[in-house]
Amino acid sequence: MVEPVPRLESLPLEKCTSVLLRADFNVPLRDGKIDDDLRITAALPTIDWLRERECRIVACSHLGRPRGKVDPKYSLAPVAERLGELLGTEVPLSSGVADFGSVTRMQELGAGEVMLLENLRFEPGEEANDPAFATNLSGLGDVYVDDAFGAAHRAHASIVGPPRVLPSAAGRLLAREVEVLSTLLDAPKHPFVVVLGGVKVSDKLGVIDALLDHCDQLLIGGAMAFTFLAAEGGEIGDSLVEVDQVEHCKRLLATGKVQIPTDVVAAADIREDAPARHVSARAIPAGWKGVDVGPETAANYADVVAGSATVLWNGPMGIFEIAPFAAGTRTVAEAVADSRAFTVVGGGDSAAAVREMGLAERVDHVSTGGGAALELIEFGDLPGLQALRASQAQIRGHGQ
Ligand code: 3PG
Ligand code: MG
Repeated sequence: MVEPVPRLESLPLEKCTSVLLRADFNVPLRDGKIDDDLRITAALPTIDWLRERECRIVACSHLGRPRGKVDPKYSLAPVAERLGELLGTEVPLSSGVADFGSVTRMQELGAGEVMLLENLRFEPGEEANDPAFATNLSGLGDVYVDDAFGAAHRAHASIVGPPRVLPSAAGRLLAREVEVLSTLLDAPKHPFVVVLGGVKVSDKLGVIDALLDHCDQLLIGGAMAFTFLAAEGGEIGDSLVEVDQVEHCKRLLATGKVQIPTDVVAAADIREDAPARHVSARAIPAGWKGVDVGPETAANYADVVAGSATVLWNGPMGIFEIAPFAAGTRTVAEAVADSRAFTVVGGGDSAAAVREMGLAERVDHVSTGGGAALELIEFGDLPGLQALRASQAQIRGHGQ
């Protein structure tokens, strides 16, 4: 079971307490504009709660992977603007991360006001978990709130540093994510079905092993299905395959819980206008690559989902960004939305798919974390959660 994390109510808050709020505003950007603001709207319950208590909020996040250098492409400016629109108040963006200017700005904040620090990853100390950077950052708050579920698997300075010195708690989003995922692991209603897609089986081996202990069936799609098909001796044409994973896939198939596609859409190339055909998953012609599960597989997976009591879906069934290869992902997404089961969609791409298809409202929980959700399932804990619990223990220890 996943140990609980301290909640907002445990924090010593007064009017004008300054709260260092770590969020995960790592939103997808296209031409400098936010493509999907789920990660911003998902942080609003915590921000609203803190504003109602007249705290001063210093929010911070990473965006993309600028690798310790200032890169205007990864500025949080679009996030500050969108957050301001959603809150109906201006959210100033500090030009630095945890420098003198940020401290001055923080001191100028009034009760209930919110500011945003510039991208944490502009500082090399963030990913290196540098103690000096963590100290500067911690100086911006009287207390620390972590609502960055999507980054809770990273032992970076902003995640594990402030809890060492500040009273700390999980925000509403982080607490809810932990609660939902721990229900899946501890007390899922059966049948519990997992639908897993994505490119590489090697990225998901640990999580597959962990899930097989809990679920009744695992339905495989996406490019990783071809390594399973190869393990069964099928002809997979030019589809992606991880030769070094074939033996492992054989062992997984031997559990009897893993289902793989029976038919696929194969294309001559990964282009919208490339010739495509519907073929048996075990007889893909040479020169053709599998790009989506076929209609028979999609319908079969949809039936299994319809008959389940708990569903976890992570990873698209095909290259759904390309319209002719999106049908399998759409069928699965619709089945998840229609299902009466408790449904959880995790991960960047599958979460984006249900939102793009307008189905997110009909899913019980759309997780804001991809890697974090999978690591929580695999390891049963995350560095960010451990840091919060350790902080609580430390504060209790001091009070004794
Ligand atoms: C994510 O989008 O996966 C999280 O924000 C973490 O980002 P990272 O994978 O770049 O650490
Ligand atoms: Mg990631």
